[in-house]
Order: sequence, then C-alpha cells, then structure tokens
Amino acid sequence: MIVNFKEMLNNAREHYYAVPHFNINNLEWAKYILQTMQELHCPVILGVSEGAKKYMGGFLTIRNMVEGLIKDLSITIPVCLHLDHGSSFEVCKEAIDAGFLSVMIDASRFELPKNVEITKQVVDYAHARGASVEAEVGHVGGTEDNIHGDVYQATLEDCIALAQTGIDALAPALGSVHGLYHGEPNLNFERMQQIHDTISLPLVLHGGTGIPYDMIQKAISCGINKININTELQVVWHDAVSDFVKENPDVYDPRKVIGSGEKAMKNKIKELVEVFKTEDCNNIDGSNII
Ligand code: 13P
Repeated sequence: MIVNFKEMLNNAREHYYAVPHFNINNLEWAKYILQTMQELHCPVILGVSEGAKKYMGGFLTIRNMVEGLIKDLSITIPVCLHLDHGSSFEVCKEAIDAGFLSVMIDASRFELPKNVEITKQVVDYAHARGASVEAEVGHVGGTEDNIHGDVYQATLEDCIALAQTGIDALAPALGSVHGLYHGEPNLNFERMQQIHDTISLPLVLHGGTGIPYDMIQKAISCGINKININTELQVVWHDAVSDFVKENPDVYDPRKVIGSGEKAMKNKIKELVEVFKTEDCNNIDGSNII
C-alpha cells in the first residue's frame, strides 16, 4: 500500500529507530528494494529525485510502476513514495497530483523567510490531499544529480521557524553531505540532540552514504528517524555489474547485466536495515505498524 510517512516516522520517533529512504532510479531499483523490505517485514520510503523523475519518464509513470510492483509482488509492508528535494511548490504539486503521498520541499537555498513561505505553501497543498511533507533547513552539501552545493549547518532557531509551518519531518543540515565523503564526516550531534529535545518532529539525515555505522547509531539515539541512502546502492550495484561484465564479456541480455547487481544491492539493504534498527518496528508491544 502506498502511504504517507507520518505513521511510520512517528512510530520510529517514539521507539528510536530509523526508516530507510532509498532513492530509486528504475524498475529494478524499486523491485529489489520492495522485495528486500518485504522479506524483512519493514516499512520503506522510496525517494524520487527530480533527475530520476526525468530519467524514468514522469511522476505518473513512477507511481503506476510502484503501484504495479506492490500488487504483482504481493507487497504488504507500508511503502511511502516520496519526492526527494522538490525544488519548488510547482514540482511538489505535480508529484502530489500524480499520486505521490509524500514530498520534500527543499527551499534551503533561499534565506529563511522565503524558505518558510514556500514550505508553508507546500504544507497547505499537501495536507489538504493527505500527503506528508519534509523540509530542509541549513544546507546539506555535496553532489546529487550532478549538482554541487556547500554545507551550511542549521541553527535551532532556523529549525523552530521551519517546524512552525506544520511540516511532518525536518531535515536539519548538520554536517552530512550527499555523495562520497572525503575523510570522516563531521556531524553536529549536540545540535541534533538539542533539536530533537526542542521540536517534536521526526528528524531526517540526508547523505547517509559513507557515514560510519557507529555514527549512524549515535544519530538515531539523538532523534534521527529517516536516513536517506542513494550513492551507496549505486556503488555496490556498479561494482557487482562491473565484475560481471568483465567475467562475461559476451553476455548482452540487459536483464542479466542489470540483474547481476541484484544480490549486492539486496545484501547492502539488509545490512543498512540492521544498522538502522528498522526491524524494531515489529517488536514493539501494541505498536506494530505493519
Ligand atoms: P547519499 O547519496 O549520500 O546516500 O545521499 C542521499 C540523499 O540524501 C538523498 O536525499
């Protein structure tokens, strides 16, 4: 079932675990993620960037593809189909109108008052249609969809102002970056904890790739409930496919070439879910959300 993320993230907030957000790029990505999360019996968020939307054809194609996979593969876990880093009200509206039940508005490149204004516009539109909203404050740096940006850490005051728009999850930039890290990430755990203690919203960690697992678990203990992973699945898929192509230069069936990355992706998903403690969603008395 396609759902918004409210219930899954509020449950995660209450019980200190994180729900994975995996970016999807194509049918195979969506299929492997859904199959693995179904096997683990855990909720999942499928993130779609604007670049991935263009690549796959459009929001409607993606929504129909995910809905089809859910039916054909008998997926019963909660699946949130989520626009990742929507850059404007218009693109968020387009996703919601196509049946996405969740969007991220990323107006973090603007000064705070404009970020608040655009975010509020998205919240009003989304909530009237049952969709959940994530918003970013400060700026997660690094490279995503070939766009490079610098890091600006969110302040507590920024977070309070953005939370007042009525958003359902907050992504405060606290030192993580998109893509691969050069050296050890430097996350501001103190501020993370302060934001968690002050604002009763699930917190989102962008740039999950390459953060050492002990730091991820520390972030979860400081109130992180949604962790975004994109590059990491691309890297394991790429490495497995490269090996396959080297070993099987005469195989040209795309199902075999693309599919040679399936096992590596599924293993990485399982490893991350264990680190995120997502399986705790099933072991909580009276609050099993599946
Ligand atoms: P990574 O590519 O670093 O995993 O970041 C993903 C992300 O934050 C998507 O919003």
